[in-house]
Amino acid sequence: LKKLVIAIDGPAASGKSTTARLIAERLGYLFVDTGAMYRAMTFKVLEQQLPLDDVEAIARLAERTEIQLRHQNNQLRVFLDGRDVTSEIRSPRVTRAVSAVSSIKQVREMMVREQRRMGEKGRIVLEGRDIGTEVFPDANLKVYMTAEVFERARRRQKDLQQQGIGVPVDELAREIADRDRKDSEREVSPLRQAPDAIVLDTSNMTIDEQVETIVRKVRSLTGSVS
Ligand code: CDP
Repeated sequence: LKKLVIAIDGPAASGKSTTARLIAERLGYLFVDTGAMYRAMTFKVLEQQLPLDDVEAIARLAERTEIQLRHQNNQLRVFLDGRDVTSEIRSPRVTRAVSAVSSIKQVREMMVREQRRMGEKGRIVLEGRDIGTEVFPDANLKVYMTAEVFERARRRQKDLQQQGIGVPVDELAREIADRDRKDSEREVSPLRQAPDAIVLDTSNMTIDEQVETIVRKVRSLTGSVS
């Protein structure tokens, strides 16, 4: 069987993580949430109280930072310098600051190096913004997942509610649109659709349908019917 690399990119809250995780489970592949890595770096910047526009200080901090994704009990956990920050990185404060931190070239270089290392052996699903365009431009399957912004805001509201955080849907829609704009307009590896990506608009799709669509594509590539 071929050892595939599957790249899933797209705007904020488009369902990439959930879908990528389930696909990886179905195929027995490794799942890498690259946004979690940028979030962990951002958490450290906030904790150290560095101004978000101090690019040099953040770049230096990145050199002294170790971010690891570990799979424990079927869960992906994020470690920042050896400390588990899996829940902390989902806070609205981190979400607001992450686009600024992830626009810094040195931060991206460090993350991309680690992501390529994880993907060396294939059998991996990575999701983010620049996987198909920058991290693995030769990925075997590229999916660009998107959905209408209000639908994405509604989904994010549900996620946050489960963590006991209540945010009005319009506020989330504004935050999501603002982050998409920043992620698409930045100079280094902006969010964009790879020319050879399959577009999946999930506005009217269930998670199961999303997973099924992609798994079917993968199976047609591997020639496996199982
Ligand atoms: O889950 P959500 O859609 O809110 O975002 P995420 O996937 O956790 O990504 C958080 C942020 O990290 C994005 O808004 C980007 O600024 C940045 N990111 C990136 O620059 N490149 C990636 N490959 C993944 C995330």
